[in-house]
Amino acid sequence: MKRVTLVDIFNQRITQKYLQRSGINHAVTVAENALDMAIKANVSLDLATKSALLHDMGHYEWYRDGKWDYEEYRRHDIHAIKGAERAHKLLIRLGEDRLVAKEVSLAVLLHTDSYLPFEISDQRTPMQHVVAEADALDEQPGGQHHYKEMEPNEAVERLHKIDKKIEEMQSQEKGKSN
Ligand SMILES: [Fe+2]
Repeated sequence: MKRVTLVDIFNQRITQKYLQRSGINHAVTVAENALDMAIKANVSLDLATKSALLHDMGHYEWYRDGKWDYEEYRRHDIHAIKGAERAHKLLIRLGEDRLVAKEVSLAVLLHTDSYLPFEISDQRTPMQHVVAEADALDEQPGGQHHYKEMEPNEAVERLHKIDKKIEEMQSQEKGKSN
């Protein structure tokens, strides 16, 4: 089965609609962070980067005076729950393997515990941990990381580089096992 790429995912209209809210720049940067961290942690690059790209797709807009009111937003926040569902639906629609879709959905659900009444830090799998850490690395006070801009063309270029690296490493792995 042909791999569903990060570029395939990004090129869906629904992906760009939802990623617009939390910022394409943040999504792509977190996917790049996740690639480096996943290589070091020896976890699935495909799962970690897909989860990272989609981790904030559950965000909704909470505007006040034309700007996101971040504090108010956080009080009502269920973005990880919405994101998990949206990511799953999107991947299945793209023909993704159902187990991959489930793993990505779970990593999106658990990328933060800010909406939960308890901490989950030591209960994440290594891949889920990579996604949470990759996100934390790009975070700025007051949610400023959500406002950094990036044109869709640049996003496609950067995601294509990640896809190429993943495919290269996957073929190296195959080479070793043959
Ligand atoms: Fe994030």
